[in-house]
Amino acid sequence: MSAECFITGGSGFVGQHLLSRLTAKGHKTWVLMRTPGNIERLREQVGQLGGNPAFIHAVEGDISREGLGLSEADKQNVSSATVIFHLAAQFSWGLTLERARAINVQGALSVAKLAASQRIRLLMVGGFMLQNLTHLNSIGVDITCPENTDWPAVYARVGGYEGSKLESHFAVIRYMQDADADYTIVHPATVCGHSENGHILEGQPFSELIRNLAQGQFKAVPGSVRHWLPLVSVDYLVKMMICVALDPFMANRQVLALYERTPSLQGMLLQIAKTLDVKAPRRHVPIGLLRSLLTIPGLATRFAISAESLNFIQVQRFDMGMSRQLERKYQLTHPNMTRAIENTVRYVKDYVTKQ
Ligand SMILES: NC(=O)c1ccc[n+]([C@@H]2O[C@H](COP(=O)([O-])OP(=O)(O)OC[C@H]3O[C@@H](n4cnc5c(N)ncnc54)[C@H](OP(=O)(O)O)[C@@H]3O)[C@@H](O)[C@H]2O)c1
Repeated sequence: MSAECFITGGSGFVGQHLLSRLTAKGHKTWVLMRTPGNIERLREQVGQLGGNPAFIHAVEGDISREGLGLSEADKQNVSSATVIFHLAAQFSWGLTLERARAINVQGALSVAKLAASQRIRLLMVGGFMLQNLTHLNSIGVDITCPENTDWPAVYARVGGYEGSKLESHFAVIRYMQDADADYTIVHPATVCGHSENGHILEGQPFSELIRNLAQGQFKAVPGSVRHWLPLVSVDYLVKMMICVALDPFMANRQVLALYERTPSLQGMLLQIAKTLDVKAPRRHVPIGLLRSLLTIPGLATRFAISAESLNFIQVQRFDMGMSRQLERKYQLTHPNMTRAIENTVRYVKDYVTKQ
């Protein structure tokens, strides 16, 4: 069955792969674009990823604007969608609270408002740390009553990006529940490239990690031998997103998209280093110590690492019950992740050496 979809963040890394999969399956898509003039480039990119560019249509707008800045005609176009996939986000370290909130929280609420007013299912992309309740408690998020959370204090602890992703998650759920409207949330682990061709965009956390290792900036492994950075391949992620978005059972539910057998960070760095043919760091540095070292002016730049990125390296194991249930239902399996990592490393190495 073909369903019309409205997508925010379609030009981003996950967005391009989502568009590729949706259009290859014959779904007509409306993509919110701040610069609609870039639509031809996006179509070309999606075509290269195996999608059907003819099913992609641009809608001009910006999530930080009132009503997403949509024209009346585009509001009408979008109203025929069955699902709104909300992926747009300001995804970078060092964001101020004001900027992170304006885009990641208010923007998400504006998308939720549109979905609720048109009675369209909202598929929102969260992040795996939202399923790490120990972490949420430790940074001061009140899980039982999120409205009581001192959000500026949380932003001060974890940075603008993560703070705003957490705040928007609870704010959107609250909004959709009050409006009696349907939502589904997918929480991805750190996204690695496409399992077959390794495609990943520059600036992604995983491609930056590979680049840092390639350029010899990784001097030690952050954390202990138990620390890990859970991964998911972008192809598994978008398949899961599409399945749950169209599944009535998934109304008002959440699921993790995470490969639970991702190796420890040490093991992963070893694997990446082997493919890059460089030395892997062997010594470990406790996360707390590294965090304080990074407050020394110049060190974060020298080691090309941000304290905010350390939040995602942890020892927590996750409850994968819902993911397993859905994998059985949709006959969805993770690809061979050793190969996915290897292909991503080769893809990144290619553009790092060209620079
Ligand atoms: N990648 C990961 O490892 C990872 C892990 C967990 C969760 N996530 C979440 O997954 C989602 C997608 O991530 P991604 O990696 O694909 O991000 P990305 O590559 O950085 O793409 C971000 C997208 O958001 C759009 N955008 C930014 N500000 C906007 C605004 N004001 N109005 C409209 N569009 C705007 C960008 O459009 P332009 O082309 O106009 O800049 C771009 O299409 C995000 O919500 C992110 O938090 C990602």
